[in-house]
Amino acid sequence: MRRPMVAGNWKMHGTRASVAELINSLGHLALPSGVDVAVFPPSLFINQVIDGVKGKSISVGAQNSAVESEQGALTGEIAPSQLVDAGCSLVLVGHSERRQIMGEQDAVLIRKFAAAQACGLIPVLCIGETLEQREAGKTIEVVSAQLGSIIDELGVDVFAKAVIAYEPVWAIGTGLTASPQQAQDVHAAIRAQLAAKNSEVAQGVRLLYGGSVKAANAVELFGMPDIDGGLIGGASLNADEFGAICRAAGN
Ligand code: 13P
Repeated sequence: MRRPMVAGNWKMHGTRASVAELINSLGHLALPSGVDVAVFPPSLFINQVIDGVKGKSISVGAQNSAVESEQGALTGEIAPSQLVDAGCSLVLVGHSERRQIMGEQDAVLIRKFAAAQACGLIPVLCIGETLEQREAGKTIEVVSAQLGSIIDELGVDVFAKAVIAYEPVWAIGTGLTASPQQAQDVHAAIRAQLAAKNSEVAQGVRLLYGGSVKAANAVELFGMPDIDGGLIGGASLNADEFGAICRAAGN
């Protein structure tokens, strides 16, 4: 049995005051014990969040980290080892906003993934197709190439200590959600791709769905056999909504 995970990606949102308010509200949530809950604040607020959620079973992760694991001369970046020192346990790798807006490509993502794992962070690899790619019937091809680039370079076994988030780009922040069946079909293909190399790793890895998840659609999505939880954007900024999504994963 895979333990479900619900993670909130706060993206580039928040001020010290709004983050303090959100932490306070998260602290009052009744979170299900059978679900791993995590939040990914902007790096600026990681210390504040780690201090604020002490004693709660909420893990904290970063939205990005450097291509090198150790600190050094790399202006503007944060080393995975520095994130570990701060108390982070997870890091997003390859979110579509970074692939599209920051131009991050597979070669750099492979390095970020490996650097994160080298210091014990759990990478959450984000993959997903654009609307144009879906309409051209290329969804599986695109997702499988994104995943394949990591497998080819680092080997399938790295997914024993990683999480994968399938986030169709057309569903992110648009209010359009993949139907449970659309998401399940891609999740099953991802698991099959891993299983072709190592069935144990494939059975154990958590596959999260992301893209306009809210409390209202979470139960149905999380009810699919290969959907092990969610990576939540907008709805994770509202503690009550986020709590309801976490509870949906516990059902
Ligand atoms: P939304 O939930 O706002 O669509 O964002 C999803 C996402 O990109 C999470 O990483």
